[in-house]
Amino acid sequence: MIALEKVCAGIDRVQILRDVDISVEPGKLVLVLGANGAGKTTLLRVISGLVPLWSGNLLFDSKSIAGQPAHELARSGLVHVPQGRQIIPTLTVEENLVIGASHLPGITQETIARRLEAEYERFPVLKTRRSLAGGSLSGGEQQMLAVSRGLMMAPKLLMLDEPSLGLAPQMVQRILGALAGLARSGISVLLVEQKTMALEIADHAYVLKNGAIVHSAAASDIVDHTELFRHYMS
Ligand SMILES: Nc1ncnc2c1ncn2[C@@H]1O[C@H](COP(=O)(O)OP(=O)(O)OP(=O)(O)O)[C@@H](O)[C@H]1O
Ligand SMILES: [Mg+2]
Repeated sequence: MIALEKVCAGIDRVQILRDVDISVEPGKLVLVLGANGAGKTTLLRVISGLVPLWSGNLLFDSKSIAGQPAHELARSGLVHVPQGRQIIPTLTVEENLVIGASHLPGITQETIARRLEAEYERFPVLKTRRSLAGGSLSGGEQQMLAVSRGLMMAPKLLMLDEPSLGLAPQMVQRILGALAGLARSGISVLLVEQKTMALEIADHAYVLKNGAIVHSAAASDIVDHTELFRHYMS
């Protein structure tokens, strides 16, 4: 459903991504592992149309999306949950959830209400906190809010930039559990991480190093996580 073919991109004149080939099939959870500065955020920003493609191609449902503006891509189902969550701290939890979806052309109040209920079912803590300022939530709750805010857009592909960052292992497991459920329900998930915990739920994993893919394997084939780190991510 989404395929990157020999993608090169950079910021200003500095090249960051080098001939990156990645694909995510419908309903699959794909993990891109990379150390600090490997280019993970840049990768997601290229797919989202926030960083321009230098060369190569980006295909979404077999059609090129290179050069399409970010807001159009988001509306057509490519939804990006950014690094650091970026929820709006002064708005309530519910306002944060509604804000993105309410800009979708033709969306009805009924649809918004239905999606809201689905997110409150996914993460019940958000329902109990619905009237509180987003900024008052714990880090884990804010990450749930960021995931749910993305899902309010009804994505075909949900991209997540280090959702585990700064969270306790138990909270990471809850978030990963929700992501695994999404993939089972047919949504494609592209997750970038520095840590290997998500290998447990991934279908396929890539390792990104200095902007290039240096390893690609079915996640079930990667048995020794420590070895993977030592070999590819140092
Ligand atoms: N605005 C920018 N201008 C110049 N270089 C940048 C800019 N943003 C990032 N870079 C550089 O590009 C490289 C990749 O950055 P990127 O943020 O994509 O990495 P990352 O894998 O997401 O890192 P992290 O794990 O720290 O989030 C790094 O070397 C970084 O210093
Ligand atoms: Mg990053």
